[in-house]
Amino acid sequence: MSADAQAARNYPLNCWWVAAFADEVGREPLARWLLDTPVVLYRTEAGEVVALEDRCPHRQAPLSSGKLRGDAIECGYHGFQFGPAGRCLRVPSLPSPPPIAVESYPVQESGPLVWIYLGDRAQLDDVPPPPQMGWMTDPGFAIRKGTMEIAANYLLLKENVLDLTHLGHVHAASFGIMDWVNPPAVTTKGDTVTYRQEFVRSPLPAGYAMALGLEPGTPWNRVGFGTFVSPAAHESGTLFFDPAAPELPAGSNLFAHLTTPIDATHMHYFFVAARDHATDDSAMNQFAAILEAGFREDEEILCKVQALINRTPRRGSQGERSVKADAAGVAARRIVERWMARETIAD
Ligand code: FES
Ligand SMILES: [Fe+2]
Repeated sequence: MSADAQAARNYPLNCWWVAAFADEVGREPLARWLLDTPVVLYRTEAGEVVALEDRCPHRQAPLSSGKLRGDAIECGYHGFQFGPAGRCLRVPSLPSPPPIAVESYPVQESGPLVWIYLGDRAQLDDVPPPPQMGWMTDPGFAIRKGTMEIAANYLLLKENVLDLTHLGHVHAASFGIMDWVNPPAVTTKGDTVTYRQEFVRSPLPAGYAMALGLEPGTPWNRVGFGTFVSPAAHESGTLFFDPAAPELPAGSNLFAHLTTPIDATHMHYFFVAARDHATDDSAMNQFAAILEAGFREDEEILCKVQALINRTPRRGSQGERSVKADAAGVAARRIVERWMARETIAD
């Protein structure tokens, strides 16, 4: 691999990443490229999630194009079978299986998410566990989720959700949040970075107002916050306060933006959104439709950015000029560099 290609792989293997939503994994093989690795996911008869290398060691057929046989997966080409630990259990043309195997990867199912670890097993104990986001299963919140494949490096989306001054430009038509103009307060703690933005008696965008049962434009207080939790996960939210009773929030929403690189220029984007008000189905469906529209707007701009980067312009200004509103995104880049510096895996 060229040095450029190596540098473009700006994602640590020694990290838990989201492989899929739990309800995507069942008794049909699910094929997915994750961190430049073909992976097949399925459930055993007992319901445990299995993640194996999706490449038959016989003649490189994707195992995902085969069939499940009990807890094993059978390659669709010549019928070799592999168990949940990756070991070959059967070769139809041989009396007993040879000592061959595919890689099997540790997985953890947590609420609506299946996390996968594709890194060095010897270092697994030193790697932070998958972040817990208990609100995803908190009955006080209604949730909606979705997934998209985006033709952009995963860190572009991380930076997007860390600099919300793009809201009034990219999302004027969907979210209609026009007051996110000033750079937020930013706090870096270890390998996390958090922003916090306070709005005082600021007109509520229509989507927020309707969910709170208010007229669009009602001046209310709110706090927007978000944290880069790991290269895989960003958590954010908004607290809404009635200025006449500002001690306790009158409502809140929470989001997880979960990105898993497919390769250096493509990602899986899993998002989960929750709120503790206007939780009935029709209000939540409306919320999901606004989010879907907004995230498509992000996709559009991120793909354009990636396409420009891919062409490496020959003339003109070089590099990037950051401003104060980029503080959290720049901190995230430094954090990712630290994750990468801890990697000892040879390609
Ligand atoms: S390629 Fe899988 S059994 Fe031959
Ligand atoms: Fe956005």
